Amino acid sequence: MPDASHLDHALIRPNLASVQPYVPGRPLAELRRELGDLPITKLASNEGPYPPFPAATQAIRDAAGEQNLYPDPGAWDVRDALAERHGIPQERIVVGNGMDSLIKILCLAMLDPGDEIVMCWPSFVSYRQGATVQGATWTPVPLDAGGAYDLDALAGAVGPATKIAVVVSPNNPTGGVVSDEALRRFLDALPSHVLPVIDEAYFEYLPAGSHDGVALLREGRHLVVMRTFSKAYGLAGLRVGWMAGPDGLAEALSPVRNAFDVNAVAQVAAVASLADAPEHLPGRIATATAERERMADGLRALGLDPLPSSANFVFVEVGAQRAAAIDAALTRRGVIVRPTGGFGAPGGLRITVGLPEHTDRLLAAMADALQEAA
Ligand SMILES: Cc1ncc(COP(=O)(O)O)c(C=O)c1O
Repeated sequence: MPDASHLDHALIRPNLASVQPYVPGRPLAELRRELGDLPITKLASNEGPYPPFPAATQAIRDAAGEQNLYPDPGAWDVRDALAERHGIPQERIVVGNGMDSLIKILCLAMLDPGDEIVMCWPSFVSYRQGATVQGATWTPVPLDAGGAYDLDALAGAVGPATKIAVVVSPNNPTGGVVSDEALRRFLDALPSHVLPVIDEAYFEYLPAGSHDGVALLREGRHLVVMRTFSKAYGLAGLRVGWMAGPDGLAEALSPVRNAFDVNAVAQVAAVASLADAPEHLPGRIATATAERERMADGLRALGLDPLPSSANFVFVEVGAQRAAAIDAALTRRGVIVRPTGGFGAPGGLRITVGLPEHTDRLLAAMADALQEAA
């Protein structure tokens, strides 16, 4: 007699047993219970350290009284604002519940068993998860020594079954970036049966002259570019990401999209953020890049060897055993970083860059943690 209170696992698609789910950082509430009154510095999820921009905060407040209504399923205002900002037709833009949702619907719409996705690894796990849920083949290729996508190796992995080639730049968790020139060469070399997906979640942190997937689209190239409001724009909690790609992409994805994927508060906040960005974004980026370099210098002074990063986080390889010990010692001091086993880098720690006081706390705690873990 089956136990009626337990799910019968025969009901679940067998291939899900092989899917590695995303492992989120530990919830703040749980850490608070464990650490008592100790102040917590959370540098684990690459969020920005600032609240939403002032206009976005106001828009969120103003929208509160209208939440009895469903949101606009087409996110027209967001797409219009993005289209105007980036000089691309709004029909080519799709807005989603974070980039994560867009990654999943792209995999859902494109990948059957037997189809292949290629990407470098260690990297962002959602592409792997989206592909393996579909029963598609996921082919990882090593990063280059600096923690950036090795685009020659990636191009070499493309075969007749490849449908998606992912380029995450800057890469999460390592922070490495590909050059504009290398990206253009890669796109030129790809056969036309492959859709390149350029993940620019950390685009805002890149210096001028770096690759710009939207500019490549404007030039008429065949690619999908994805960006998010979760990082530099400070809207991670509301979940808004977007992608732009070839004509027809939005219609092709519509059968697998949730109609109301992007909530109404997120939509007004995104529009207001775009209006406020010219005034508020540059200062935030300047602080993030200055603190990133100060954090990297501080880590080097402690004998660690962080990879060069072009994003709002720093990656340091310490070895698997030491990573667990250092992570535990940092947590006991109220500093939460991200061990990167789930990203394919079991010996790594990824540390989000925050405000100057966060860098100070991280470096002080790291000095103690390294001694304790020695
Ligand atoms: C490389 C990369 N892509 C996509 C995402 C997903 O972003 P979102 O918050 O928009 O779902 C992240 C978030 O950490 C990321 O690091």
